[in-house]
Amino acid sequence: MSSIKYKNNNLFVENTSVKRLALKYKSPFYLYSNDNIIRNYKSFYSNFKKVDPLICFSVKANSNVQILKILKKIGSGADVVSGGELLKTLKSGIKPNKIVFSGVGKTEEELRLAIKKNILLINVESENEAVVINKISGQIGKKTSIGIRLNPDINAPTHQKISTGKAEDKFGLSKKNLIIFCQNIKKLKNLRLEAISVHIGSQILSENPFKKTLKVLEEIILKTKINFKFVDLGGGFGIAYKKSDRKIKLKNYSNLVEKFKRKYNCKIIFEPGRAILGNAAVLVAKIQYLKKGVNKTFAILNAGMNDFMRPALYDATHNIVPLIKNNKKFNKAIEFVGPICETTCRFIKYKNYQKISQSDYVAIMDVGAYGASLSSNYNTKPLIAELLVTKNKVTVIRRKQDLHKLINY
Ligand code: LLP
Repeated sequence: MSSIKYKNNNLFVENTSVKRLALKYKSPFYLYSNDNIIRNYKSFYSNFKKVDPLICFSVKANSNVQILKILKKIGSGADVVSGGELLKTLKSGIKPNKIVFSGVGKTEEELRLAIKKNILLINVESENEAVVINKISGQIGKKTSIGIRLNPDINAPTHQKISTGKAEDKFGLSKKNLIIFCQNIKKLKNLRLEAISVHIGSQILSENPFKKTLKVLEEIILKTKINFKFVDLGGGFGIAYKKSDRKIKLKNYSNLVEKFKRKYNCKIIFEPGRAILGNAAVLVAKIQYLKKGVNKTFAILNAGMNDFMRPALYDATHNIVPLIKNNKKFNKAIEFVGPICETTCRFIKYKNYQKISQSDYVAIMDVGAYGASLSSNYNTKPLIAELLVTKNKVTVIRRKQDLHKLINY
């Protein structure tokens, strides 16, 4: 189910025609569905209902404060990876006791902020980081709750650039080093080791690597004999971007997590990003030019890799659909590309597409996660606007960046 769909050949987000918005607001812009965000969150939670987890939405997937406010209202916490994300999360009203902080290179300034704000957990990724947290906590005069991130050495089948749980990846501590860490931690008097965390990668469409990770966690818990108050199982749950993408089945995994929770009497945390926001937005763009190539036609959009990076960075497939469907055929293959001066500023190619014309609008699909948050000012292009639809109400949740401010910073 999605609230982004065609009605009488017109693309709608909830009760709002996208074409109507394209004519009213200057394209390109991100366009979110409030309904999809809420539905995704609730559906994720209901998969794990018996586990009653704390869901800490992974803010890196989308850090728009208005989006975070929607999630806050329905009970979400947050997983942050920088001081900036932490401040945005607090601004959204999400309480510190629902915030976890991950990342391999947290600065002293960021750690000081997190410690002062009393967040639920700082998920530590190295012994040296723990030493710094212990020092700052001592200076402030408090005990800080930490988690320790395990690198379970599990190869989750996904794009190599978004895998995080293999031994060669920079994240977390190996089993051996984590066990040593747990022995040494007692010396760091200003820390309270309360959690173990893992995150094995992103856009994972099979439940098997998650199941394997649970086994490794059991092994560690038995070896360290620590009763962790929290077990943070991370995010990584994939979504179907293409028809051939398999839908991840969480039921069986959820049963295993429930058993695990009962056996070790811990609170389970999840950090989903993509599963909550992925299909909750489209990027509306205009065909600036049609240009004949050899054996194909380029549809040059007014949105580029600076606005939406995933195809250029990960060869990701995102469908591009017309705002108005017709039954006519385009006579050549079409490649949708952007204006940025890089060969990789290309989105997708179709052999058969419907008839389109210069100045038509299209929507790049499933861009809610790692869309706006990964965008940049490359080629000195301002960040584009973000709009939110709630039924038939439209709110600008981020104005387009002012080009003059960008130039005269
Ligand atoms: N927790 C941690 C510690 C993470 O590093 C990540 C993502 C998540 C949770 C959320 O993962 P998700 O549920 O969204 O898969 N830019 C890439 C994805 C990078 C993910 C980085 N870490 C992309 O566009 O595919």
